[in-house]
Amino acid sequence: MSKLIIGNQKMYMNREDVISFVEMLKTVSCDDVIVCPSFPYLEYYKDVVKVGAQNVSTADNGAYTGEVSSSQLQSLNVPYCIVGHSERREYQKETDEEINQKINKLLEKNITPILCIGEKMEERQNKSTETVIKRELDADLKGLSTETVEKIIIAYEPIWAIGTGLTPTSEEIDDAMQFIKNYLKERLNVMNITVLYGGSVSEKNVDELNTIASIDGYLIGGASSKPDAFKYIIASQSK
Ligand code: 13P
Repeated sequence: MSKLIIGNQKMYMNREDVISFVEMLKTVSCDDVIVCPSFPYLEYYKDVVKVGAQNVSTADNGAYTGEVSSSQLQSLNVPYCIVGHSERREYQKETDEEINQKINKLLEKNITPILCIGEKMEERQNKSTETVIKRELDADLKGLSTETVEKIIIAYEPIWAIGTGLTPTSEEIDDAMQFIKNYLKERLNVMNITVLYGGSVSEKNVDELNTIASIDGYLIGGASSKPDAFKYIIASQSK
């Protein structure tokens, strides 16, 4: 079954790169594709593909220099937004409490949060992957109803796999996908949830990843800023 492709273009691209990327997207079918560029480029993509922001403020509006609110995203008709990416957890010291607030702000405006969770290398090595997943899901989704959680997209991104060329084995990815789905089912009676895999997804490994049925889609960093790689990944869904 074809998978949802979400590109997190991080801070990789300048205007010229974006313009040629948009031209590439015009040549492919983007039905199941979402691109999350830096804020200034959201408008560049909107006519050719669904877009998402990479972050949102915990505040509604006011004197918050450099922040972008959920109502501003709504006013631009941005339907998706990444929250809780490990880079923001690490560099901006984002806490689970703030991530929970951001999810609530987005849901209030009918914007779908794409929540990132995942363990560090030492946590994988000491076998606490599932503990980390549970802890993050509990804290980030705190107070949300079953129906609300079903609206959220979850991205399992092991931190050690991001930008490193390393990936868990197919079995380990499948285990994590199943674990997340089962945990949300047991905990919140969530029956329908989209769970993505992220971390060094590329044109080189996507064909193999496509064979893992429990993966509903991908959150792609580096390869989503390279037109040929992203085009290959999109095309791989219709093989
Ligand atoms: P890479 O695909 O570059 O490993 O990044 C993954 C990621 O962080 C997507 O959010």
